[in-house]
Amino acid sequence: MHPSQYAVNDEYYTPDWVWHEIQPFIPRSNVLWEPFPGNGQSTRCLRRMGYTVHSDETDFFQCGPSLSEVIVTNPPFSRIREIVERLVDWKQPFIMIMPMSRLSVGYFRSIMDRMSEHFTLLLPSKRIDFDRPDGRFSKCPFECGVYCYRVDVGDRSRRATIVPLDATS
Ligand SMILES: C[S@@+](CC[C@H](N)C(=O)[O-])C[C@H]1O[C@@H](n2cnc3c(N)ncnc32)[C@H](O)[C@@H]1O
Repeated sequence: MHPSQYAVNDEYYTPDWVWHEIQPFIPRSNVLWEPFPGNGQSTRCLRRMGYTVHSDETDFFQCGPSLSEVIVTNPPFSRIREIVERLVDWKQPFIMIMPMSRLSVGYFRSIMDRMSEHFTLLLPSKRIDFDRPDGRFSKCPFECGVYCYRVDVGDRSRRATIVPLDATS
């Protein structure tokens, strides 16, 4: 489906530096799936980096899992809950840019419980300002992180543990 047909304006495209920064965590052994390609700049960048990327204009909500692929994307933030719940139901590996504030939202805490030890959060070196369709970039008023699920981050991480206190009983 063409981006203009989606109800909410989620047209915020990822600058290339973000994909380069997280490149050590993007597996080379899998085909990548960019289900929310927007203007295509994320797909083009990942392909230039040497990855094989599956991406088309299919409505994500018409798709099923593809467990041999790793989703690498910046999803429409207006539909994060539905998207993440669906991917965790499927056990679909993903690397997704999402607002840091989601970590403290009720529904996300229960999703984190389900992701358990398969969850890793990558912290970008600076705030991500996204590109807009008119070619300008938009100053982002909030911080984003890169949420990884079922992706082998090897020993590159400085490990921290996230403990939602309402889930410790
Ligand atoms: C935040 S933008 C990011 C685009 C791209 N992933 C990037 O990183 O530059 C999210 C995109 O998802 C598209 N989108 C929204 N709902 C979608 C759906 N159900 N299926 C596929 N794409 C969708 C929007 O039109 C928008 O272009």
